[in-house]
This record gives sequence, structure tokens and C-alpha cells, in this order.
Amino acid sequence: MKIKMALNVTQIREDFPILKRQVNGKPLVYLDNAATSQKPKQVIDCIVDYYSRYNANIHRGVHTLSQEATDAYESARKKIQKHFNIEKSHEIIFTSGATQSINLVANGFSSFLNGSDEVMVSAMEHHSNIVPWQMLCERTGAILKVIPMKEDGTLDMKAFDEKLSEKTKLVFVNHISNALGTINPIEEIIDKAHNSGAAVLVDGAQACSHLKPDLQALDVDFYVTSAHKLCGPTGVGMLYGKEEWLEKLPPYQGGGEMIAEVTFEKTTYADLPHKFEAGTPNIVGGIAFGAAIDYLDNIGLDNIAEYEAELLEYATTELLKIDGLKIYGTGSDKTSVISFNLEGIHPYDVGTILDKLGIAVRTGHHCAQPIMDFYKIPGTVRASFAFYNTMEEIDLLVEGIKKAQVMLS
Ligand code: ALA
Repeated sequence: MKIKMALNVTQIREDFPILKRQVNGKPLVYLDNAATSQKPKQVIDCIVDYYSRYNANIHRGVHTLSQEATDAYESARKKIQKHFNIEKSHEIIFTSGATQSINLVANGFSSFLNGSDEVMVSAMEHHSNIVPWQMLCERTGAILKVIPMKEDGTLDMKAFDEKLSEKTKLVFVNHISNALGTINPIEEIIDKAHNSGAAVLVDGAQACSHLKPDLQALDVDFYVTSAHKLCGPTGVGMLYGKEEWLEKLPPYQGGGEMIAEVTFEKTTYADLPHKFEAGTPNIVGGIAFGAAIDYLDNIGLDNIAEYEAELLEYATTELLKIDGLKIYGTGSDKTSVISFNLEGIHPYDVGTILDKLGIAVRTGHHCAQPIMDFYKIPGTVRASFAFYNTMEEIDLLVEGIKKAQVMLS
């Protein structure tokens, strides 16, 4: 196969200090990017800079440090706004991550649903996009419908059409499956759901390191993501919501910052986005989220997508040459995630041997048990590639899997 490099990966790897370390006496081969991405020094430096130079609470003080911190935090919101082509910066709520963003919306929808309503989820969701909605259904009596998936790990869109009705109030689906890498047809889902009167929440936790969604063009009602999947820190993420929805939803948590006025008789709430940002937020996290966005934009998501497609194609071809290796998630529209099993061998054992060789992969159900139930397997080995991975690392993975197969057979 002829490799056409869209990126200068050698140079990019210099930005990631962790990629120089050894694990179990071998150079680290980090292929667990779907669990969390590594951090470039631009993001690490940004965190050190904040704590070294202008650590202060935001939106509260007249002093210089507080103003500098506030400016940096709000400038990160603007970077996110530009990156995702969001119309108004107050449609961006900083949260602790995609999970909290989903819980915020699910909590708010308690006021809008009753026992005659339905909400719809896909069969290939992460638990964080299933459990909050089940809890919502328990609170309201609404019915949870499931868009089934097909053997190749794509959604059964015919079943979606059949299940969607005027009873459906909300559809929530991931943009990209964390366990399979499938890119879901969210444009079609949003379009059809809107035509039927339902709102849509898209979980972009796995998507935003691979592609750049244009949220105005998508016309999606809610879009959530976590910074740590896209070279930013853990503990911070985003909820995008259309202004009209965020105005309608009740606050999620009460506390400082989210109020207009407090008396013991009545409290009024602050305007967006502060209504949903109670308490001292993850200030440095928000600022570093902005730095991560700058970093990715500098490389260009189009270049990243092109290079990762090459990694995926090469890895798929090479892995399929291994006897007894089965890949789960074989749809044509997928990103650089490969979930697989070796016949007769538990995924955990494969992962353990790969770790001894310095290769980090994730094993298990990947917080997506319904997918494993669908395939009737306990879990998979998942290799997930980022733009700083190399073809040589894929060769090491293939070699490692072959070794594991010999040792475990
Ligand atoms: N959601 C993360 C994963 O897929 C943790 O591994």
C-alpha cells in the first residue's frame, strides 16, 4: 500500500513528551486514544502558565489576576465558538465533560416529558448516553425506544424511520461510536427527527478529535464533547445548546455564579451561560481546552482525518491477515478505531500481553455493554489511533498480536 502522509508526524510527535517514555522496557506505543488522548506541550505549558502567572477565581474580582483569568477563560469559550461555528458564545456551557453535559440536558427534560412521550437512543451508545435517559424515563414515565444496529456495526436506519413518531420528543445518538468507530449519519437523523418534531442531542465525545462538526450547518439542538479526547485536559467539556433550548431548560445545579439575585423568598437566575455554570468552574481546564482547540486547528482537522484514514486502512489490512482475528464494526463510514478479538482468546489476555510489549490498548466492554451483548461477546480489544501514531506502531501492534496469539493458544 502506498502511504501518502498528510502530516509531518515526526515533527508532531515532538510536541508530545509522553511519547518518548518507555513502558515495560519498550518504547510506548499508545493506541488507547479513544479512552483519552495524549497532551501536547502547548496544552501542558498553558496549564503551567496559568498556575504560575495568573491563577485567580473568575467573574468575581476587580483585581488584575482575576481579570486576566476571566479573559483567558472567556477567550477559550470564543475559540470553541469559532471552531464549532456556533452562533452565540452563550450557547456554550462549560461542564466537567460529555457525561455531565448529557446529565444536564436529561435532568432538564424532566420538566417537559410525561408518560405518553417517547425518547430514542441508538443501540451503540456509551453508557453515559444511555443511563441518564433511563433515569429520565424513570422520573417521567416516558418510554425509551432503541434504534437497533446491524451486524456491520451501523445503525438500522429503516428501523429508525419506523420507530420515529410524533410521540418521539428527543433522539440522542453518538456522532462516532467509541467501541466500533462507526460514524453515524447524524445529518439524516437530525433532519428526520426535526421533521417529526423531535429534538436531537449528539454525543460528540469520540468525534471531535477526528472531525470538525459545523454546529450551525448541522442544526443540532444539543452537542456535547469532552476536552480530554481532543488533546485537552480531563475534567472539562462542553454542552452546546440552541439558545431557545437553554433558555427553556431549568438550571442543573444551584450555587454561586448562576444567580441574578438571592433572597430567602426567591432566587432569580443569571443569564446564559452562567445559569448552568454554578460554583467555581475548572478554570484552567477551560483555558487549556481552548489551547487544545488552537493546537488541533493549527494542524487542521481535515489533515488529521486524511492521515487517520490512512492509518485505519493500513491497520485494517494488516490485522485481517492474522488468522482467527475478527473485527467488529466494518461499516464503510468509520474512523480510526479497531475493535477486534482473536478466536478462542479472552480480550483481557491479549491486552495484558500487549502491555508487556509497551503497547497500550483498551480491553473490555468499553462502557458500551449493549454492543457486546449484540455480538454475544464479553468484550473486545480496541486499538484506537490518533494523528501522532505511525505506521511503524501499527507494525508493532500486529507483531504483538501474533506473539499473544502464539502464547495464548
Ligand atoms: N469513553 C472512553 C472509552 O471509550 C473512556 O474508552
